[in-house]
Amino acid sequence: MNILAFETSCDETAVAVVRDGRTVLSGAVLSQTDLHALYGGVVPEIASRSHLEAITPLAAKVAAGHAIDAVAATAAPGLIGALLVGLNFAKGYAMAAGLPLIPVHHIRGHIAAAYLAEPELEPPFLAAVVSGGHTLLLAVSGYTEMEVVGGTRDDAAGEAFDKAARVLGLGYPGGAALSRLAGGGDPNRYPFPRAAVKDSPFDMSFSGVKTALINLIHNAGQLYGDDWKNQTDLPSVAASFQNAVVSVLTDRICAAAEAFRFQNVVLAGGVAANQALRDSLRERLGENIHIPPVYLCGDNAAMIGSQAFYEAGKGGFAPLSQNAYATFPPGRGLPGGVP
Ligand code: KG4
Ligand code: ZN
Repeated sequence: MNILAFETSCDETAVAVVRDGRTVLSGAVLSQTDLHALYGGVVPEIASRSHLEAITPLAAKVAAGHAIDAVAATAAPGLIGALLVGLNFAKGYAMAAGLPLIPVHHIRGHIAAAYLAEPELEPPFLAAVVSGGHTLLLAVSGYTEMEVVGGTRDDAAGEAFDKAARVLGLGYPGGAALSRLAGGGDPNRYPFPRAAVKDSPFDMSFSGVKTALINLIHNAGQLYGDDWKNQTDLPSVAASFQNAVVSVLTDRICAAAEAFRFQNVVLAGGVAANQALRDSLRERLGENIHIPPVYLCGDNAAMIGSQAFYEAGKGGFAPLSQNAYATFPPGRGLPGGVP
């Protein structure tokens, strides 16, 4: 079954054709980050308009030459205007071509990136979805059955990376730039806090470590004025910050895997591109940690096409009246999707 999939939940316009949930036949991701960098964050209306311009020519290019059996689109969660562009385009395509429509939850899609990377991988496993918008731990018992068992109480890990990077003058989104800067620093030089959430062993909080970094830079500015950058060991600030975030994520992920008795763990989402996090989990979990290649960690449509195959297997088709939802729990089937 070849599925034409669309992903437009945030600032990437992505289209892919995926065969039987496991093989990417064609795909492209158009990133809008340059448009939003000017504002230091994603501007929803600019995102929607940019998706609208990009999606039709991108779909024509990616779908060309492929026999399509079904059409899928991210229907939740995300920026509502952005979601509506991709979902509505998918509905139009499905109607014109007489094909079934499959709505997909974005978080489920991130997890499915692991199926593309490892054709033998199957649930059950613990999934950690760590991105700019989400930091969630899920007990995945089946392709369409999962339950949230932990997550952040405030900032997503990627959001904390992005805010830290902004204060360090690294632009937006700065997670990758911050980790490059951290490469030349001492991860133990600055004692950043590693917050625990009382009575919730699998929950996390990243606002404290973010605020600690903002305060450190603010104090350096007060002390040294314009010379603060030369007077501060910026690579070590970045490395110590990254170390704090990575050690909290690693501890919670490993604790949840052990408590819920999962042998295998999947790491997904944009922050899964972080080399320090990959190394730390590899060290703790060995071959039981499954991490997609970097190009499948950030938002893409191949992951949506993969998950759509498994949603379809459970009868997760939707009428052409399907709506999009800015927020929706990943553990529940979408209205119109899996019954
Ligand atoms: O999954 P994604 O593309 O979009 C969302 O659904 O949010 O994730 C983007 C996030 C951004 O916060 C970005 O800074 C972060 O992933 N990110 C990284 C790295 N590469 C991307 N964070 C830390 N280290 C990286 N190497
Ligand atoms: Zn995402």
